Amino acid sequence: MSKLTRHFLRLDDLSRDEVVLIIERAIELKASRANGQRSSILENKTLAMIFEKSSTRTRVSFEAAMTETGGKAIFLSSSESQLARGEPPEDTARVLSEMTDAIMVRTFEHEILNTYAEYASVPIINGLTNDFHPCQVLADLLTWFELRGDIEGKKVAWVGDGNNMCNSYINASTLMGFELVIASPSGYETELGGEWVRKTTSAKDAVEGADLVVTDVWASMGQEDEAEHRQSVFKPYQVDEKLMSLARADALFMHCLPAHRGEEVTKQVIEGNSSVVWAEAGNRLHAQKALLEFLINYN
Ligand code: CP
Ligand code: NVA
Repeated sequence: MSKLTRHFLRLDDLSRDEVVLIIERAIELKASRANGQRSSILENKTLAMIFEKSSTRTRVSFEAAMTETGGKAIFLSSSESQLARGEPPEDTARVLSEMTDAIMVRTFEHEILNTYAEYASVPIINGLTNDFHPCQVLADLLTWFELRGDIEGKKVAWVGDGNNMCNSYINASTLMGFELVIASPSGYETELGGEWVRKTTSAKDAVEGADLVVTDVWASMGQEDEAEHRQSVFKPYQVDEKLMSLARADALFMHCLPAHRGEEVTKQVIEGNSSVVWAEAGNRLHAQKALLEFLINYN
């Protein structure tokens, strides 16, 4: 008898209630870890991790999450696995499903991830594609909930590229009910939209009265050839202290990292009082433990 496998390809693969449940569980797991307790919730479970792009946070947080919960993560770089020699995702997905309990994939086109999901019989987790980065936004939501409570009805400003992070924020806005104002230079807007999403070319317009200001690199992985051109196009979108001063006095600043100081954000802002980027990065570990438990043990 086959059961429906739950995947996490986009944030809205979860319902609002499930996101809240995962956040609450992450807070619980984080607190017990701080007390020196480790719970073996994923004992003897194995996570395969396929990386076709570089990573620091995603790799370490998933690997640490498995280690700390009694399981194990296996790192597969595309260059050293048979993927480099042409073994297709549909074969890789079926083979790894025979041996592991979940598969995390970081790749280029989102369609490649969909193919993994179509052929896998264990959960596929999006570790970042060109179009979405839901694990990061789950950690961002956890960070907001911990520091400020529910995000419903708040104003979030996205400043910069209409990229994978921006798209996952759009999913989050629809799911969690917050206003999202996206400021991107013309030609770099995302095609996605949502009920509470507004797009502008003015960074000031987006940040005015915002509760949360978020940005990301101007050139994402795979766009290295465009990086120089993007530097000049995105210059007016740098998050500096002057721009942050337009947000609410208690506004938070988030960035998924890695950050380029002097480009999308100034040193003063990322190192300043509004910035919660280190807690945000750390929360990848806790959010993903709760996500893995949800996908592997309860679905
Ligand atoms: N934020 C994030 O996903 O970082 P890495 O690219 O280091 O995994
Ligand atoms: N938008 C960035 C996020 C990195 C975590 C990229 O795709 O490179």
